[in-house]
Amino acid sequence: MRILILILALVITGYYRLISGGISGARQDELPKSIERGKEVYNLNCLGCHQVSGEGLPGVYPPLAKSDHLDQDQIKSIVIILKGQNEEIRVNGTNYNVPMTSLNQLTDQQVADVLNYIGNNWGNHFSTVTPAQVKSKRN
Ligand code: HEC
Repeated sequence: MRILILILALVITGYYRLISGGISGARQDELPKSIERGKEVYNLNCLGCHQVSGEGLPGVYPPLAKSDHLDQDQIKSIVIILKGQNEEIRVNGTNYNVPMTSLNQLTDQQVADVLNYIGNNWGNHFSTVTPAQVKSKRN
């Protein structure tokens, strides 16, 4: 009897590993799609100020390419998009003090996608942002 239970336990854990492996595999495919959608969101909503190159305009629109400000805190960038920002910030050694208006008409998915596009473009390697993280910053 004990041996049966042991075998059953092994089968169940093996099955569980298979399922969870399948799920994380699906998540890995998600990122390239998110980046692709994010490019469109960027072109429509951000490009006018932050530019095609993500370099912005020195002293006016801060860069998103290799931005030390963004690199420090991804969650803060979610808040900037949802609520806008009107305070002096320092990005890559230059001060910026032009307000950015809120873009909270974007969906949680669009905000996550655009940050994943930015975070994996122009030499950036930032961590992946999920719609759930965006949702948690909306109120
Ligand atoms: C109308 C111009 C404008 C648009 C459109 C705009 N931004 Fe900004 N953005 C700014 C300005 C100006 C600042 C600096 C705000 C400050 O000084 O407090 C800024 C700051 C930022 C920052 C923080 C600073 C940095 O460089 O890391 C992020 C991140 C950002 N914007 C992302 C976006 C994203 C993503 C979009 C599109 C969804 C967007 N912005 C659209 C003007 C704009």
